Amino acid sequence: MQIFSRVDDLRAALAGKPEVVFVPTMGNLHEGHISLMTQARQHGRTVVASIFVNRLQFGPGEDFDKYPRTFEADCAKLAAAGVDVLFAPTEADLYPEPQTYQVEPPEIQNWLEGEFRPGHFRGVATVVLKLFNIVQPQTALFGKKDYQQLMVLRNMGRQLALPIRILGGETVRAEDGLALSSRNGYLTPAERAEAPRLARELNRLRDAIRAGNRDYPALERAAMAALDAAGWKADYVAVRQQADLQLPGSPDAPLVVLAAARLGVTRLIDNLEI
Ligand code: PAF
Repeated sequence: MQIFSRVDDLRAALAGKPEVVFVPTMGNLHEGHISLMTQARQHGRTVVASIFVNRLQFGPGEDFDKYPRTFEADCAKLAAAGVDVLFAPTEADLYPEPQTYQVEPPEIQNWLEGEFRPGHFRGVATVVLKLFNIVQPQTALFGKKDYQQLMVLRNMGRQLALPIRILGGETVRAEDGLALSSRNGYLTPAERAEAPRLARELNRLRDAIRAGNRDYPALERAAMAALDAAGWKADYVAVRQQADLQLPGSPDAPLVVLAAARLGVTRLIDNLEI
């Protein structure tokens, strides 16, 4: 695996490389990331990963400083997964001057995650567009655990006519159902034992909808109350349309249920397609 930190060096190395598939990450890689790398191989001939903890997408008081940075272990995992090229820029490489030109997503950036993390999707869209311009992939993969992120980026790609196919990879879960996330590492042993409740509540809600319950606000309230009663602080549990994350409209529109909740100092998110 070749590793580059400078934009010019990466560009030179990728010039003429066929069928570039790109998986951007913030590092601290787990099986969810590795499954994206494995899928990437099926979609092209040159697999490029990036590791960059993007300050622009973290709000004040969020975990930018303590976000786990495990570069050596990440490199070993990427090499073992057959990644060809790793782009791991420093902040000075990627943001040599203040990034004052930014991508402003539409109203979707203020819903769900955006309500609790103002500016988050502006930071994500900006860095991803910049990484796309540097790597110039034909295909890019993102995990479905960040469901709203995937939608923001797909919409950006379509509206800005980016010549990039954007694919979503299924969420990878621990045996007890907890969605894998770098932030799981913040959990104490007791919190880790409690954490699968988030996925259990989503499953319960999905089962209720499949059984015909259409009172989505009541289902959302019940799930949030169950989390809060178990010591969580739920930010939201929301039943939305898969196609646009709007409130359910037509009765046969495919739905997704999304949730975010805090357990101690750790904020976890998850979702399930119905
Ligand atoms: O999902 C992530 O890890 C990040 O939001 C991304 C897409 C790498 C942009 O920084």
